[in-house]
Amino acid sequence: MKSKASSTNPGLMQMEACTPMTLSPILHQSISDLVYASPQTLQELVGRYGSPLNIVWPHILAQNVDAFRAVLHAHQVRYEIFYGAKVNKSQALVRAAVETGIGVDVSSIHEFRDALHAGADPARLCATGPAKTAAFHAELIKRAALISVDSVEELAELEKAVCGTPDRRARVLLRYRPAASHASRFGMGEADLMRCLQRLAQRKDRFAFEGFHFHLAGYAHETRAQALRELTCYIDAARGLGLQPAMIDIGGGMPIRYVDSQEYESFLQYQCKDHYRNGRVPASFYPYGSPIDAGVWLHRLLASPCAGGLSVAAYLNAMNLILALEPGRSLADQTAISVFRINCVKRLAAGQHVVFVEGSSFSACETWFASEFLVDPILVSTKPADERCNGPVQAYIAGHSCLDDDVLTNRLIGFDRMPQAGDLLVYANTAGYQMDLLENEFHRHPMPRRVAAAYNAAGGMEISPDDKTED
Ligand SMILES: Cc1ncc(COP(=O)(O)O)c(C=O)c1O
Repeated sequence: MKSKASSTNPGLMQMEACTPMTLSPILHQSISDLVYASPQTLQELVGRYGSPLNIVWPHILAQNVDAFRAVLHAHQVRYEIFYGAKVNKSQALVRAAVETGIGVDVSSIHEFRDALHAGADPARLCATGPAKTAAFHAELIKRAALISVDSVEELAELEKAVCGTPDRRARVLLRYRPAASHASRFGMGEADLMRCLQRLAQRKDRFAFEGFHFHLAGYAHETRAQALRELTCYIDAARGLGLQPAMIDIGGGMPIRYVDSQEYESFLQYQCKDHYRNGRVPASFYPYGSPIDAGVWLHRLLASPCAGGLSVAAYLNAMNLILALEPGRSLADQTAISVFRINCVKRLAAGQHVVFVEGSSFSACETWFASEFLVDPILVSTKPADERCNGPVQAYIAGHSCLDDDVLTNRLIGFDRMPQAGDLLVYANTAGYQMDLLENEFHRHPMPRRVAAAYNAAGGMEISPDDKTED
């Protein structure tokens, strides 16, 4: 069901979006237009769908795909892009990925089914993850999807499953454990990788070996170039065994930029424990002000030295290999915001304030990294600054639960006016894990709603539900 999003309701208060004072989020034009030019529409949407409200713009994912394609075309490499669907539960984003003609990286039978439901060709799906269930293996074999095998044990399980499925061969990649992550539980080192290659060479009747896969933590293109160099000897070894590797899948981890990089650098230099309500600066942060974006990252990777004096791009072409990518966060970049309604504001000792929102820290957080989502929320205020006598204030942002740690932003945020009940806080660019990885129904609050925004021929924004709940 689609509805027109407009702010024609005369009962709504005049609202104004205030530019944050410190780490102001970079905003896509479509989002900036909504937040700054049409804040009443936001208020209306939160009134209709509840707080927090996640708004997703699928067409922005397609623009991100185009940016990757431009770099890949410039380097003239053959490629496959698998959208890392784990990054967000939005079905509209999966559909956008499929409609733009890319594949999907699926890490559960549910993501697999959702990708099929979005119209994906099963041959363009790549299943990753170290602990796939037997049911997942069976469906992947049946639909001839690509399977990244994480271990010798997984290959044995897969062999049993494929032998029980008449007339089928399992399409596999072998997941390599790069030297940079030698202590990781994911992927295989040399001995196990060679055992798998030998088994695949013996069972060509049951397996179609398609190449190698890895995924690394961190965001440095240098570590990916190094892993590619390490893999070159396994490409040779596989060919020596009569196998035909056709693809190297380098996983995800391409960086995105949430805030201006110079502003971010000065922030990091300047910040101290007094800027946090709990007196603690988190040990590490996502690189929110990355000096390079995903496109430059990919360009630098393809231009890096690989083997035999060749760049990565030239090596891939010389060896007739397809470069596969599994971008999650970088394809979801700028595709969503999370909007929270302020429930109340309380004055604490030392002149600080706490802003309580309807919603919890599980809906806009980096809690699972024991870190903080370091982007200032945008206050959408019901009163102009000059009508609020209390002037600039500092406040941290807490969720509505009774847990002391239910805090969206421990950092004290500066506001040019006192936030008040009924105002909104917009957390921008939350599609990359922050929005829904940890969301839950604590205190029996219903799950936050997600809606998708699209534009009609006249440029009007149309909103449709993008979750599994009935409207
Ligand atoms: C195997 C694999 N591929 C792709 C991704 C997506 O990574 P990102 O969202 O950083 O691009 C992940 C994330 O954990 C992953 O584990």
